[in-house]
Amino acid sequence: MFLLFVLLHLGVCYAYENLALRKPAHQDHPYWHMSWLTGASHGVDGQKSNLSFFSGQCVCSANEVQTATWWVNLTSILSIHHITIYYRTENVAWGESNGFTSRFLGFSLYISNTTNRSQGSLCFKDSHFNRSTIPTPIDLTCPAHGQYVIYYNERKPGVTYPAGYSQYAYNDICELEVYGCPIPGYYGVNCSTPCPDPNCRYCHIETGACQGCKPGYRGHQCELECWNGTYGEVCNGTCGHCLANTVCNHVNGTCESGCTPGYQGGFCKEPCVDGKYGLECNNTCGHCLDGDHCNKVNGTCIRGCSAGYNGSDILCKTACANGTYGFDCNETCGKSCVDGKYGLECNNTCGHCLDGDHCNKVNGTCIRGCSAGYNGSDILCKTACANGTYGFDCNETCGKCKDQNDCFHVNGSCLNSCSPGFDGDLCKTPCVDGKYGLECNNTCGHCLDGDHCNKVNGTCIRGCSAGYNGSDILCKTACANGTYGFDCNETCGKCKDQNDCFHVNGSCLNSCSPGFDGDLCKTPCVDGKYGLECNNTCGHCLDGDHCNKVNGTCIRGCSAGYNGSDILCKTACANGTYGFDCNETCGKCKDQNDCFHVNGSCLNSCSPGFDGDLCKTRCSNGSYGYECNETCGHCFDPNDCHIVNGTCLTGCSRGYTGAICKTSCDDGKYGLQCNDTCGHCLDGDHCNKVNGTCIRGCNAGYKNDMICKTACADGFFGDNCTGICNTTCDSCNKVNGSCDSGCHPGWKGNYCNEKCDNGTYGKECRSSCGHCFNQEPCYHINGTCLTGCESGYLGNLCQSPASQPATEWKTWLISSLTVILAVGAGVAAVCVIQAKRRGIPTTSNENEMTAHMSTNQ
Ligand SMILES: *[C@@H]1O[C@H](CO)[C@@H](O)[C@H](O)[C@H]1NC(C)=O
Ligand SMILES: *[C@@H]1O[C@H](CO)[C@@H](O)[C@H](O)[C@H]1NC(C)=O
Ligand SMILES: *[C@@H]1O[C@H](CO)[C@@H](O)[C@H](O)[C@H]1NC(C)=O
Ligand SMILES: *[C@@H]1O[C@H](CO)[C@@H](O)[C@H](O)[C@H]1NC(C)=O
Ligand SMILES: *[C@@H]1O[C@H](CO)[C@@H](O)[C@H](O)[C@H]1NC(C)=O
Ligand SMILES: *[C@@H]1O[C@H](CO)[C@@H](O)[C@H](O)[C@H]1NC(C)=O
Ligand SMILES: *[C@@H]1O[C@H](CO)[C@@H](O)[C@H](O)[C@H]1NC(C)=O
Ligand SMILES: *[C@@H]1O[C@H](CO)[C@@H](O)[C@H](O)[C@H]1NC(C)=O
Ligand SMILES: *[C@@H]1O[C@H](CO)[C@@H](O)[C@H](O)[C@H]1NC(C)=O
Ligand SMILES: *[C@@H]1O[C@H](CO)[C@@H](O)[C@H](O)[C@H]1NC(C)=O
Ligand SMILES: *[C@@H]1O[C@H](CO)[C@@H](O)[C@H](O)[C@H]1NC(C)=O
Repeated sequence: MFLLFVLLHLGVCYAYENLALRKPAHQDHPYWHMSWLTGASHGVDGQKSNLSFFSGQCVCSANEVQTATWWVNLTSILSIHHITIYYRTENVAWGESNGFTSRFLGFSLYISNTTNRSQGSLCFKDSHFNRSTIPTPIDLTCPAHGQYVIYYNERKPGVTYPAGYSQYAYNDICELEVYGCPIPGYYGVNCSTPCPDPNCRYCHIETGACQGCKPGYRGHQCELECWNGTYGEVCNGTCGHCLANTVCNHVNGTCESGCTPGYQGGFCKEPCVDGKYGLECNNTCGHCLDGDHCNKVNGTCIRGCSAGYNGSDILCKTACANGTYGFDCNETCGKSCVDGKYGLECNNTCGHCLDGDHCNKVNGTCIRGCSAGYNGSDILCKTACANGTYGFDCNETCGKCKDQNDCFHVNGSCLNSCSPGFDGDLCKTPCVDGKYGLECNNTCGHCLDGDHCNKVNGTCIRGCSAGYNGSDILCKTACANGTYGFDCNETCGKCKDQNDCFHVNGSCLNSCSPGFDGDLCKTPCVDGKYGLECNNTCGHCLDGDHCNKVNGTCIRGCSAGYNGSDILCKTACANGTYGFDCNETCGKCKDQNDCFHVNGSCLNSCSPGFDGDLCKTRCSNGSYGYECNETCGHCFDPNDCHIVNGTCLTGCSRGYTGAICKTSCDDGKYGLQCNDTCGHCLDGDHCNKVNGTCIRGCNAGYKNDMICKTACADGFFGDNCTGICNTTCDSCNKVNGSCDSGCHPGWKGNYCNEKCDNGTYGKECRSSCGHCFNQEPCYHINGTCLTGCESGYLGNLCQSPASQPATEWKTWLISSLTVILAVGAGVAAVCVIQAKRRGIPTTSNENEMTAHMSTNQ
């Protein structure tokens, strides 16, 4: 069959139009992003001179996909005759050797009214060609109606394809031409013949056989109109509620003779709106019990009539008959006053009854109660609601009208606007938040809770927000200068411009005044800082760095070393002073005045005579000089030397001399000021320089009394005067005992121990004996001739010639008397001494003893 088509159309010339030319086209799997080169539209671009990839005339699909779909949208359902496909050849000879034949094999072609090929009809499916037989271009005749022509190929896994099939599916169409008639309803080679059946919309392009009717028609030749209340395309529309069994227009569904009662609109598919019923919904529901809910077809009140209407009229449009009233018109009028009148001669007018003026015509009682605004306790309904109430049964309370209670008693609307804080017709709507007062025209002040103020008077309920004065209950007054925060309770910090802080949060507008810091200028400078922005550093205050934070004044004065006359305590003490108030004077520093101004310690040790850190301590305890390193000499007062130069102020102690008394006495000198000279010491003048003691004893001739200055007493000599001079000496030499002053008469020699030589006597033996008898030697002492004189001579000495014997006698007598007297005196003296030794009291002692004895008694 298909071969037949192919052959049939070879060489036949058609007038059909290419319906696909430049129509929208699509492929499921484009080749990369290269639609400009190989996109779906190249299949309908009319170009087919170059059938290669790079020509820009072909569609190329993605590699390695299992299905390939390409379609063209003819934009409306058109009558198609045949389709020509030019497949990609890469301009190489077509046939088995051309690689693209394998891609072409197995393709199918659908014509569909949607893009879904399964909803359309299959035009062609290749199952016979092989690589050498498949042609290109290929013509496929498919007389059909459709909007989309779909090219499809697939290479599904698990399916075994005939030899020569490519591994994957492609739709490499260089051109696909759809030939057919551009206008529906025509057929024939020239598309010029109208379809034979007048109501036919789509007829076979060659035979003219009808294939689809115009809307509203049916039948093989579309000879029948839609029936049974249907209409439209394929008669699938259902008519609405057309009037009285008439059908709707079979083409467009319009109910030409109108709708049945209860429906409206051209198609009669819309029910009447509530409250309307009947033909064209022209009728209004009667007085139904439920407002206006009546049956929309015939107007029947579904739950009966409201009072005053006759239930026997299902439309509830008939008022009760004269003399009756109420539900079901069950009530009978007392007298036949006209409605709204009652009483004797119907002179009275009904009050404000709920149902207009239908009151009991006898006694005026409002049958169903009063209308709004009248007091139900007055059965006549003539009493308006009491002041302050309104509405049915006066159950409602007036809103907040300006004049209290003065609302309209019927609907509650206030007569003279609202009282402050309320709005709306009924003045029941409180002002919106943030508004208050008459007509809610005022705006709340700065309340704590945003703008929640009392809606009547604007009072801020929970007080003001920060920065506004609570004494202004409206919170519209900002805090007074110098205050801020909640209730303006906060006081501005120390702003530069006094009090000039932001009234809400207290931040200073122009920095802080001296001594304060922080946003609020409430933070005093940290200790040790002062002045503008706390930029200055305190001086040397007594209390560390606690200075006045404003001006830096040291509160308790300066610390040691700084001058109190500078209140900032930044001036160090003048040279030579230190300490608190610089009251202290530097000690004796080496360099005059050069002490540390704080504690007075000398920078370069002390000057001589002083010691201690401050060099104020005089040398003591026998020291002097630099650092009191020197020791005083042997001063008389041992510790009393001059602290600077060591001069002994009280002179030296014994044995020393010189200004500082450190020089011992010269040898041979001793004692105070070395004024004494050593005695006759054994070793020349080595005596003790303090007391003169001769260290190794005295020279001979001196008493051994330490200082060797006492010569031996007369009659003594030698070491320590232990030698006794010879009795014959006239005072012997005190050193060696020699009789240097001569001997007693009768004695001679150095030691006077030799008697005078015979013939001599007396002093120095210089006298010569007289003329002793027989020339006998005379007595060597006095020259007495012991044996008498030689004749002629007289006297003891025998020197006088014999003529003068008297004289000699007298001399002898005197001498003898003298001797006797002397001996007598000596014996007396000896007796006295012996008496004393034996305890015999002397005369004077006797007296003493008696005195003692008497006192003892
Ligand atoms: C086909 O063309 C018609 C007419 O332009 C359009 O309304 C329709 O959306 C198109 N179909 C698709 C799938 O784009
Ligand atoms: C498309 O719709 C027309 C009219 O309803 C019909 O005649 C035709 O057969 C349809 N085409 C396909 C392929 O179903
Ligand atoms: C509607 O048409 C069917 C035939 O398709 C017929 O049997 C039926 O009676 C018709 N109904 C009416 C209400 O005319
Ligand atoms: C009637 O048929 C037309 C065309 O086939 C379709 O578009 C429409 O939805 C159908 N209507 C109903 C109510 O089935
Ligand atoms: C339906 O068709 C009738 C008859 O042709 C025409 O008079 C009417 O205006 C149409 N109604 C609509 C809504 O098109
Ligand atoms: C419905 O009301 C319209 C407008 O008032 C009027 O023209 C029309 O004739 C009425 N139809 C019927 C059935 O009373
Ligand atoms: C009006 O219509 C309702 C609902 O169809 C029906 O029950 C009632 O009997 C009708 N009334 C009259 C008077 O026809
Ligand atoms: C009821 O009374 C009024 C006024 O008197 C009169 O017009 C009307 O016709 C009376 N109706 C009946 C049903 O008698
Ligand atoms: C009115 O009277 C009739 C007959 O006496 C009675 O059935 C009906 O319930 C009454 N209706 C009312 C609302 O009282
Ligand atoms: C009712 O009104 C008429 C006219 O005003 C008057 O003549 C008559 O006396 C009144 N009747 C009563 C009972 O008040
Ligand atoms: C008024 O008349 C009606 C009907 O006779 C009666 O029911 C009602 O109680 C009367 N009201 C007074 C207040 O007399």
